[in-house]
Amino acid sequence: MNILLLGYGKMGKVIEQIVLSRGHQVIGKIDISNRHELATFSRDNVDAVIEFSAPEAAYENLKWCMSKGLPTVCGTTGWLHHRPEIEQLCIENKAAFFYASNYSIGVNLFFRLNKQLAKLIAPYSQYSVHTTEIHHIHKLDAPSGTAITLAEGLIQQLSNKTEWVNTEEGTENQIPILSLREGEVPGTHIIRYDSEVDSIEIKHTAHNRQGFALGAVVAAEWLAPREGVFGMDELLGE
Ligand SMILES: NC(=O)c1ccc[n+]([C@@H]2O[C@H](COP(=O)([O-])OP(=O)(O)OC[C@H]3O[C@@H](n4cnc5c(N)ncnc54)[C@H](OP(=O)(O)O)[C@@H]3O)[C@@H](O)[C@H]2O)c1
Repeated sequence: MNILLLGYGKMGKVIEQIVLSRGHQVIGKIDISNRHELATFSRDNVDAVIEFSAPEAAYENLKWCMSKGLPTVCGTTGWLHHRPEIEQLCIENKAAFFYASNYSIGVNLFFRLNKQLAKLIAPYSQYSVHTTEIHHIHKLDAPSGTAITLAEGLIQQLSNKTEWVNTEEGTENQIPILSLREGEVPGTHIIRYDSEVDSIEIKHTAHNRQGFALGAVVAAEWLAPREGVFGMDELLGE
């Protein structure tokens, strides 16, 4: 497959290695300095786009991809207020769009574990829930997209929770998400339940960016022949 990379930062570079190792070509690498090269790409020479850029860049990049009808896998976080518009453009242009806040298989297992644990704990009102996400100091958005997905999973299962808030403590109906920025941490997420007598905690720690990158490339291979809007549940067969 010919794969176009939109965003060539920390993730773009790891994705490039995985694209090549799986026998595909990287037909272009676009970052902020060479966006004019986008004009040379279309369905004629691109089989799939993988977009890992910056929150403010993703919206423009995705509008361009959808207008060209290109199968596009997006991993950029922090732009999701535009998601309904991008999904509408996808349908109008008969394109294919795939978004995941986290492409790692382990994190997607963790998403399911999070919902299962919340379901078990839901009847026990003595437990209060707190979430923490830790990332490298270069990360532009907070909370992480992964933390938002985890909080949404909690809101589905805990009937007294209606929203998340990006602070250490929340009110009765809020899921607090504490965002910490430390060194070069690739991504750590913790869900903790506290009662007077004990605590229960689940934690996912990414050791590097390979898991995210592999998942994004597998998603691009899966998406290329398809049309429509998809996510990890479809890819993982749920
Ligand atoms: N979904 C997941 O599994 C997952 C996993 C990890 C990270 N992420 C997300 O992926 C995104 C990228 O992460 P990263 O660590 O690779 O960030 P990064 O190292 O800062 O790289 C971002 C890249 O995007 C480029 N860029 C900025 N504006 C652009 C524009 N207008 N058009 C095209 N490219 C542009 C930057 O170019 P310059 O260097 O020239 O500024 C840079 O090459 C973040 O939103 C992060 O949260 C998602």
